[in-house]
Amino acid sequence: MERTELPVAVFDSGLGGISVLRALVRRMPGEDFLYFGDSANAPYGVRPAAEVRELTQSVIARLYARGIKAAVIACNTATSAAIGTLRAAFSDIPVIGIEPALKPAAAQHRHVLVLATPLTLREEKFAASAEILPLPCPELVEFVERGELDSPALTAYLARQLGPYAGHVDAVVLGCTHFPFARRAIRAALGGGVALYDGSDGTARETQRQLVRRG
Ligand code: DGL
Repeated sequence: MERTELPVAVFDSGLGGISVLRALVRRMPGEDFLYFGDSANAPYGVRPAAEVRELTQSVIARLYARGIKAAVIACNTATSAAIGTLRAAFSDIPVIGIEPALKPAAAQHRHVLVLATPLTLREEKFAASAEILPLPCPELVEFVERGELDSPALTAYLARQLGPYAGHVDAVVLGCTHFPFARRAIRAALGGGVALYDGSDGTARETQRQLVRRG
């Protein structure tokens, strides 16, 4: 089979990458996609970077052996820990990562809350300032992984985590691909008027750009 006819692999530690898959399908409805969520080993965000690198590399190696024309790392945590290693190991296909959409948020808003896993916040080394407030939310990954998107427990958790920021931030960066599924509950905890940013459309655009470039 020609490389161009192979599917595009989309990888996450679990279900979160489906938020990126949705953007990819919307942008490139003619492509075939192969989704792999490593739910057996999720969550990744509380593991050491070396372990996340190993887990990610072994999954992408399996998908690569099966035949893929590109790999989208639809996981901020795996991107921050492994993107360099993956690009070196699978250099004949595009390997696209996702990063917290901090730039567009900071360009438009003054007080930006960045929600991500502890590992992403460590690896991306956000310089916290009066304007940029990083907040690790590892439990939110588990709520989404359980499909718990509007339970009383989730509402109480978000009220505890985000309540203190209500009225003090104008934008929130969803720096983990699980979090867009809890968008409604996040907005409710912070009150209306808060802009939410995530990297799924940017990642889909970059994937399309790279596929076009490779013909
Ligand atoms: N969905 C992943 C991300 O974008 C991480 C979730 C996890 O901790 O496994 O960071």
